[in-house]
Amino acid sequence: MLKKRILTGHRPTGPRHIGHLVGTLETWVNLQDSHECFFLVADLHILTTDYAHPERIQDNIHNMLADWLAAGIDPQRASIILQSAIPEHSQLSLLLSMLVTVARLERVPTYKEQVKELNLQPSLGLLTYPILQAADILVYKANTVPVGEDQLPHIELARETARRFNQTYGQVFPEPEALLSQAARLPGMDNRTMHTSYGNGIYLRDTPEETTRKVMSMYTDPTRIHPSDLGHIEGNPVFIYHDAFNPNPEEVEEFKLRYRTGKIGDVEIKKRLAEVLNTYLAPLRERRAKFIAQPKMLMEILHTGTERARFIARQTIEEVQVCMGLLQRRSSAGYGTVVPYPGVFC
Ligand code: TRP
Repeated sequence: MLKKRILTGHRPTGPRHIGHLVGTLETWVNLQDSHECFFLVADLHILTTDYAHPERIQDNIHNMLADWLAAGIDPQRASIILQSAIPEHSQLSLLLSMLVTVARLERVPTYKEQVKELNLQPSLGLLTYPILQAADILVYKANTVPVGEDQLPHIELARETARRFNQTYGQVFPEPEALLSQAARLPGMDNRTMHTSYGNGIYLRDTPEETTRKVMSMYTDPTRIHPSDLGHIEGNPVFIYHDAFNPNPEEVEEFKLRYRTGKIGDVEIKKRLAEVLNTYLAPLRERRAKFIAQPKMLMEILHTGTERARFIARQTIEEVQVCMGLLQRRSSAGYGTVVPYPGVFC
């Protein structure tokens, strides 16, 4: 049986935090056995907001790759690919942009939020962000896209675009389905969403001491001043983390009971949480350190995955070019045959 194909990715914003690990990377790792997986380093997408900081990109790619591999992404079983090194992503994005109206893009909620936040005149690149993302997915005819909830509007646009294309030119693309992460979202140390730009995360690359320091400063129940005050569990980050990482549920239940009844201080619970997290992260950190020390190997892994993917992407582009009247089909050998004069025959 042919395995279903997955494509998903991250923008290279730098080292991954524990929220990425639980929310997304663990899902990706598990999908590697049952699916043909493509994991995308979306370096073009990073330019939609950070184009003025080219000096950060390579370092961020290295850090993100080391974390992906440390988390268990396996280049033997999955292809790790670099968006900017596969021009077919940009090519398909341009071709698909003919089928999407400006008004539709202006209604994308992530775009509206970014425009508000950036306080700038939005660029064309930012407006067409979801078309490039649709191209990332459709160029591999991926069936399934594991993402967080924030990405759903983009997957919806990819589905609409696939449908539009198929209605116009015949069945070419499967309609990709989002696979929502089941894991509880981990809050940041300050109880806001954990976000690279908020500086409120625990990172795979943090030392155990840094992790302990962060945990000790973690937001808890603001209504509780003294250890003898009755505490609240619901929505309390310290307990969300204990629930997610503490391998001993009886201990967690006991902590909760003592917390509710004012019989334990935050310090004791946090100290134990820091231990739990450091134990959980130790093997990942060890692997990460090995990978980050070998930047050449990281680039080779990226190169190999990219080559493999590009072969598929080329075939899709040929097929799309024939559909859209840019190429004449000459042979019945299928797509991916040698093109003697680019842009004429296939
Ligand atoms: N937009 C995604 C994010 O910010 C990254 C991304 C780019 C992506 N292309 C993709 C995710 C294709 C899934 C599929 O996280």
